[in-house]
Amino acid sequence: MGKIAVVYWSGTGNTEAMAELVAEGARDAGAEAEVITCTEFSASALDDYDAFAFGCPAMGSEELESDEFEPMWDGVEPELPGRKVALFGSYDWADGEWMDLWRERAEAAGITISDTVIAKDYPEGEAAEACKALGASLA
Ligand SMILES: Cc1cc2nc3c(=O)[nH]c(=O)nc-3n(C[C@H](O)[C@H](O)[C@H](O)COP(=O)(O)O)c2cc1C
Repeated sequence: MGKIAVVYWSGTGNTEAMAELVAEGARDAGAEAEVITCTEFSASALDDYDAFAFGCPAMGSEELESDEFEPMWDGVEPELPGRKVALFGSYDWADGEWMDLWRERAEAAGITISDTVIAKDYPEGEAAEACKALGASLA
């Protein structure tokens, strides 16, 4: 069974909760899953995993978190084409535009995004189930 990296940034815990749910879904589907903060991950670790879920909330103005997450993403993005990749994250007051922009950016870099999940604030109900399903889909 595959080994999945769930790599995230979270300021107030909502995206972190999503990361744990993604990992739970992957493990329930029989995979090994590691939850890793973005500061502990870089392109040199990519070959250790079979699939990846990257999580970042909407920050700035519909942007990725710029101090820690985006530098990590800039480093892995050129190495992700041909790998299995899904994206997730939490937002609050807008409509999820940051995720559309992130997906467009990734696809323009040649990455196939298998799935995206967004949760308004803390992941509950359908959003929590969607996080688990995303994890299972990577397993
Ligand atoms: C500095 C800052 C910028 C934010 N920008 C956006 C935004 O552009 N759009 C949006 O919908 N929510 C925005 N939010 C709300 C967060 O995305 C939301 O609170 C999210 O649940 C935080 O996830 P976290 O708990 O994983 O940090 C922003 C929050 C902060 C603190």
